[in-house]
Amino acid sequence: MNNLVLIGFMGSGKGTIGRLLARKTGRFFLDTDALIESFANRSIVEIFRTETEEAFRRYERDLAAWLARSVSAAVIATGGGMATAISRDDLRSIGETIYLQCDFATIARRLANEAEREKRPLAASIETLRDRFLEREAIYRARADRIIDANQSVEAVLEAIG
Ligand code: S3P
Repeated sequence: MNNLVLIGFMGSGKGTIGRLLARKTGRFFLDTDALIESFANRSIVEIFRTETEEAFRRYERDLAAWLARSVSAAVIATGGGMATAISRDDLRSIGETIYLQCDFATIARRLANEAEREKRPLAASIETLRDRFLEREAIYRARADRIIDANQSVEAVLEAIG
């Protein structure tokens, strides 16, 4: 497949790093949230509002199966819950998984910006965000082929990925 699949919590830099990594490695860049929005013809916020979180996870699972079947030579940034919504084998059948590990303090700082939180239905409250972060941390680790310290600058993270 030759895909690189970025996983990690909201605010860990999957989109920013993914775009640069794609250019650096001669791949194209895909963002699972953007693909779901274009397929559903609605924003993520609207999907959560008019359907349910479970419906969104179904889109993510269907998308994961399609990516594994149909996409190669891409850098793929996943939505923060996608890696936890599908099995390790299903995730790794898409490509090499790279976990952008951030401490909660880094996440909280990046998502302190209201505009960043508004695009993310699950980020309304910092307390529930922390609970989700704690729930997911071990799952990201278990799903990762590689773990990169993403508390650093964009340049340092790209360098660490190699
Ligand atoms: C989610 C993360 C979001 C988006 C949706 C749900 C999550 O993506 O998929 O709001 O459950 O962590 P980002 O990680 O790109 O913010």
